[in-house]
Order: sequence, then structure tokens, then C-alpha cells
Amino acid sequence: MTDGNWQQVAKADDIKPDEPIKVTCGTEEIALYHVDGEIYATHNICTHAYASLADGFQEGAEVECPLHEGRFNVKNGRALCAPITEDLKTYEVKVDNGAVFVKV
Ligand code: FES
Repeated sequence: MTDGNWQQVAKADDIKPDEPIKVTCGTEEIALYHVDGEIYATHNICTHAYASLADGFQEGAEVECPLHEGRFNVKNGRALCAPITEDLKTYEVKVDNGAVFVKV
């Protein structure tokens, strides 16, 4: 486990339920999701091939990859179905005064 730095990446109001957004933090592409009033962050690139999950389809705590329709749980990064076999990296998130911070 490495210590990360908290980086401000977005405003909480900009992240609507079931409408993931992509942010870039240094060289990392991160997808942000709003689920039941909480914000979650995962790596934005699918672990199967190369697709942006922020362009995928979110339904509650699941996001479906736009390329081959594999699905992940956005809260813990778990791969939920074929063709995905590798879990997705997740990031700690905190919201302070309406600003979203991700630990990278
Ligand atoms: S690239 Fe995401 S399921 Fe294939």
C-alpha cells in the first residue's frame, strides 16, 4: 500500500447519478461515479482492452464497458462478468465543501 496525495478533481455537483465523468490527474485517467449520494472513483480504462468507462453505461453501482459490455462494480472495482477477468483499480474519495478529492 503506497501513500497517495489528495488531489482535487471535480465539483460534486458535476457528477450526476448514472452519468460517470472522466477526469485526468497527472497521467492517470479516473472515472467518477455518483451512487446514492456518494462519489466513487475508479481507473477510467477497462482492464479488458482499451475503452473509457466514463463513456460506458452506469446503472447504480455498476458500469458497463462501452466496447464489449463487460461490467464492474464501481464501489470496489470487482469485475462482474465476461469478458473481463481483472478487477479495476479504485481510489479513495472525499468530498469537502462541494469539492471532490481523489487519493492518487
Ligand atoms: S474493453 Fe471493456 S469489456 Fe472489452
